[in-house]
Amino acid sequence: MNRRIVFATGNKDKIREASQILDGFDIPVVSMKEAGVSADPEENGTSFEENALIKARAVAALLESDSDIVLADDSGLVIDALDGEPGIYSARYLGHDTSYHEKNLHLISRLDGVPDEKRSARFVCAIAAILPDGTELTTTGSFEGSIGYEEKGDHGFGYDPIFYLPDLGVYSAELSDEEKHARSHRGQALRAMRDLLKERLV
Ligand code: IMP
Repeated sequence: MNRRIVFATGNKDKIREASQILDGFDIPVVSMKEAGVSADPEENGTSFEENALIKARAVAALLESDSDIVLADDSGLVIDALDGEPGIYSARYLGHDTSYHEKNLHLISRLDGVPDEKRSARFVCAIAAILPDGTELTTTGSFEGSIGYEEKGDHGFGYDPIFYLPDLGVYSAELSDEEKHARSHRGQALRAMRDLLKERLV
């Protein structure tokens, strides 16, 4: 039985991070493309968990092997002073074609006049898994910080340059991949999923 973990993403960084975290299973983590499927379902759920499940179910429905495990994630930035925006709409915020530089500057300008103590925010990630017997599992992780007053740092992606980590005194885009993965929403959710899978995949 050639079990695989098929990650419903086209993002190589996500596959690499998942492979590192799920290393102990001896089950290869492959992309949708490597598994020979492609799915881009409408993410019309109302939570990160629902959207992760929508992606995982769409891929599971296309796979012919009945021994594959499907993983999918959904994530975003939740800003308290903006009632949780951009939230589940983080990737679509201001339109897919708008650069993150513009999105970041726009968010900073929307927080104009908001004092430090009210600039709290978090990155949230949900991971969904569908097991060969159809069992659905979800885990979540959250990475606490606040919205800064400028962009800083060259690492990471998306909203990392405006996500300030008060405890460390740096922006998320100033962390190395390893430093970020050790604390990030996605790292936490993946490690929690690894622990759930450990109990089931013996
Ligand atoms: P997803 O790939 O559909 O989960 O898209 C989530 C969106 O949330 C990304 O396009 C980014 O805009 C944002 N996002 C999620 N995680 C991070 C992160 O670790 N750093 C910066 N932006 C993030």
